[in-house]
Amino acid sequence: MGATEPVLLRVQGATKTFGSIQAVDMVDLELRIGESVGLIGPNGAGKSTFLSLLSGDQQVSAGRVSFEGRDISRVPAHARVVAGIARAAQIPQTFGRLSLRENVLLPSLFGARLPQREAEDWCREVLAMVGLDARPDVPAGALGLLDRKRLELAKAVAARPRLLLLDEIAAGLTEPEVETIMALVRRLQAGRAIVWVEHIPAALRGTCERLVVMDKGAKTHDGPFAEVWADRSLQEIYMGVPDDDISAH
Ligand SMILES: Nc1ncnc2c1ncn2[C@@H]1O[C@H](COP(=O)(O)OP(=O)(O)OP(=O)(O)O)[C@@H](O)[C@H]1O
Ligand SMILES: [Mg+2]
Repeated sequence: MGATEPVLLRVQGATKTFGSIQAVDMVDLELRIGESVGLIGPNGAGKSTFLSLLSGDQQVSAGRVSFEGRDISRVPAHARVVAGIARAAQIPQTFGRLSLRENVLLPSLFGARLPQREAEDWCREVLAMVGLDARPDVPAGALGLLDRKRLELAKAVAARPRLLLLDEIAAGLTEPEVETIMALVRRLQAGRAIVWVEHIPAALRGTCERLVVMDKGAKTHDGPFAEVWADRSLQEIYMGVPDDDISAH
């Protein structure tokens, strides 16, 4: 898996500035089908902004994003969904009055571009995949947090993405609920690449072979999960003090 596949996503020098803030600073990333990457970093490191540059919710100020060999740097979000990139949002963007089925039908029709009948079948399949098939007609607004996260995943997957972007989909959940989400993500890994931003290391460790770290907009680490996790310079990034100072006390 991974290295033998062609490059799916190639990010070169991606930069995003908001006035004087350098939210993302010259980030490079290559990703192949079958790769799952955990993305960590302190609050404000630029992780969500970086995902936005991939999903098209924001556009790069400089640099380039290529997907399947095509420069998509200027392609808007809705067209990137059709191209094969979908994002599950940090704050569930579910349409509360629409039923679960309707919420998942929209990306099946307009993201995956399936004809109505096939989209209906695909919807049922996706709802079953995330364990929400028992009551497809309840309004999304009636769901608890775990089920809202399941629905957010279902909506992203319904678009049939080859690149799936996950932003803190496990945040706020209990430990057993995090396990449920991890099992779900593992089921979604085949045939696609995943970038998962999460502050819960155990969730990423159980699902991602590769770990990327961002700090102050820049990518500081990128490699096999265990290797990056064991790097002592991570302490410095998270605590804001040199590693030697920590061990001296
Ligand atoms: N739309 C915006 N306008 C201005 N500044 C922004 C905007 N979005 C993000 N920023 C700034 O860019 C920096 C990176 O923010 P971002 O949300 O990407 O960080 P993050 O790593 O996702 O943090 P967290 O872990 O808290 O979610 C921060 O300084 C933030 O205040
Ligand atoms: Mg964020």
